[in-house]
Amino acid sequence: MGIFNRKQKRAGQALSVLPRHIAIIMDGNGRWARKRSLPRTAGHSVGAETFRRIASYCRKLGVEYLTVYAFSTENWKRSKEEVSSIMSLLRRYLMEAIDSMEREQVRIKILGDTSVLDEDLRELIDRTEAISGTIHTKTQANLCINYGGRAEIIHAVKAWMGDKGAPELTEETLANYLYTAGMPDPDLVIRPSGEIRISNFLLWQSAYSEFYFTDTLWPDFDERELDRALEAYARRDRRFGGVKG
Ligand code: FPP
Repeated sequence: MGIFNRKQKRAGQALSVLPRHIAIIMDGNGRWARKRSLPRTAGHSVGAETFRRIASYCRKLGVEYLTVYAFSTENWKRSKEEVSSIMSLLRRYLMEAIDSMEREQVRIKILGDTSVLDEDLRELIDRTEAISGTIHTKTQANLCINYGGRAEIIHAVKAWMGDKGAPELTEETLANYLYTAGMPDPDLVIRPSGEIRISNFLLWQSAYSEFYFTDTLWPDFDERELDRALEAYARRDRRFGGVKG
């Protein structure tokens, strides 16, 4: 149990300042590997384990949504070997999730344009999401695959234009055509590895998110690190463009 959880328990408080939705850019896998003279793919492999661990911790804390950037629309520019290694990790993760979802109590959803992925991966995604639909748990992990914030907005606008019965275009309407339809916007966006940019991640949804940056590389990110982010978040004064009451 991490510090944040322990403190809250001790205080006998509900986790009132716990974000409902945490989003993470899982950055720094390549640098983690290079520091150890390992191939970049080794960093992704440990990064996938870190994701499992953090998803499980989010479930323990009662976080409702954890969204991670696993593969962006720009990541196709990487070497064939690296792309295929990330796809293999996703395959392996989904295969394991199909068997363990009931036990782990974390639903899984994929966000992004999956139409260009290999057929076997698309089938695994369909099976994972079908099982997720039968699991009644508070926590959902969203894996962004072939995801880009700009592409998502274009996709939503096109879907709205193609929908004969669509209501007038408002912010609420458009939100209902995004991959995240029905979910709250992320309260907290975390980017490890010392990079301070958004990289086309959840552009629409992060309009009022709090941001947390740390130098820790994603494979080294752990429960304590998430506690630190949650403690920083709990101290933030969120005004959503208004003034303090
Ligand atoms: C960014 O680090 C990471 C990625 C582009 C890939 C993330 C993928 C995984 C962690 C594996 C698959 C995920 C799951 C959930 C099974 P980087 O490679 O850009 O690192 P660098 O900036 O240090 O080079």
